[in-house]
Amino acid sequence: MSRILLTGATGLIGGAVLHRALAMKTDTEWVCLVRASDEEAGRQRIAARLGRFTNALNAQRLAQRVEIVAGDFTHADTIADPRLDAVTQVLHLAADTSWWAQEKVHRTNHDGTLALARRAARMPRLDRFLHVSTAMICGGQPPATVDETRYPDAEAIHLVPYSASKAAAEMSLASHFADLPLVVVRPSIVLGHTTLGARPGSSILWVIRACDRLRLVAGSRDGTVDIVPTDWVADTLVEMLARPALAHRTYHLSAGMLSRTRWSELGRTLDRVDPAESPRHYEEFSARDRATLHRRFTEVFGMDEAIKVAMFRALQAYYRFCELDVTFDNTRLLAEGFAPPPALSEYIGRCIETSGEIVDQFREDFGQFAVGSTPRRDAARPAPALPETMPAREINTRSPSQRRGSISS
Ligand SMILES: NC(=O)c1ccc[n+]([C@@H]2O[C@H](COP(=O)([O-])OP(=O)(O)OC[C@H]3O[C@@H](n4cnc5c(N)ncnc54)[C@H](OP(=O)(O)O)[C@@H]3O)[C@@H](O)[C@H]2O)c1
Repeated sequence: MSRILLTGATGLIGGAVLHRALAMKTDTEWVCLVRASDEEAGRQRIAARLGRFTNALNAQRLAQRVEIVAGDFTHADTIADPRLDAVTQVLHLAADTSWWAQEKVHRTNHDGTLALARRAARMPRLDRFLHVSTAMICGGQPPATVDETRYPDAEAIHLVPYSASKAAAEMSLASHFADLPLVVVRPSIVLGHTTLGARPGSSILWVIRACDRLRLVAGSRDGTVDIVPTDWVADTLVEMLARPALAHRTYHLSAGMLSRTRWSELGRTLDRVDPAESPRHYEEFSARDRATLHRRFTEVFGMDEAIKVAMFRALQAYYRFCELDVTFDNTRLLAEGFAPPPALSEYIGRCIETSGEIVDQFREDFGQFAVGSTPRRDAARPAPALPETMPAREINTRSPSQRRGSISS
């Protein structure tokens, strides 16, 4: 029987995984490592996340079916709880997904992941450690198509410390945990849900909608972005855990050549689903052209509130990602018979009809763009005032400790 340790169950993808897995009614046991004062508080946090996918009663019922270990994965190596000893698979989703809190994201995503790996190394029945990284470990200068073998690259220049921390974690896992049954999966951009739209969490839907509202495309109108829906990612992860064997040690969970999103096509789709705004004509600009973006943003959204200033800063950085025009090859996944992802154009209508205002959607995601500490997403919080200019810094993949020739765990 499988006994799966899940980290990140209170997050966007983790909640979707748990909801899918529990709905399947297999005899798999799920153990969730959750930050909470005690088990009951942890269960209530899980139930709240599951409540984004189903009604409150069912969410409570499903949450009763998981075991809770209250704790922080960054200290997993000190968790003596014997319930972890019988784990057969780990699905490690937890991460600090904030972009700019450099030291904190490195401590969590790199050092914390190594702490979890040390605990996993003491699980005698473990046969798979599924580590969820990101396709964005490619940094800011990838080729047009990236396959799984090209990265991580210690010399890659990163647009944000978040992706640098994920790349560093991959490199340290590979070099220090050779005996761990490690499989690395790298989702590209995860956005929306094919049937529930934006309800479980909109992720960067606000970015797509803001680009559309501004009528500005970074780079070329024929450029693409690689986007996949949350439920497809969840299904794929659950199936990867269930398969007795996988052919590779690294996989992209990405749209690939067949399902990637081309801006010009997206504009035509949006003309259909949101005809009040049609016809759309996107202007091309360089993501480094701050003046054009600032002027257009001020005209369309205004710059009269701190939240809009923060949104402008985040959007500037996202435009740099969009301008990369990179596709993450998913041939490995498809060749092993996993279902291909739907294209964004197939479900963006559902996302938009379940969405509120663009600025409010950004507000929901604001924690990701805080410069210092990262408030938890389910905590109600006002947006603090931020400086208007905060350029995306270029970050080298190697952590300070790796540059000194050692790891910091
Ligand atoms: N979403 C995307 O577009 C995307 C794309 C590529 C890769 N990924 C990767 O996919 C994974 C999941 O992403 P997501 O979007 O679901 O993230 P998310 O919504 O930000 O959720 C992050 C999860 O990690 C947990 N966590 C963070 N620090 C923790 C700690 N110290 N101890 C225990 N739990 C901790 C959070 O718990 P709390 O609720 O307690 O904060 C939350 O459950 C991440 O590894 C991310 O890098 C995501």
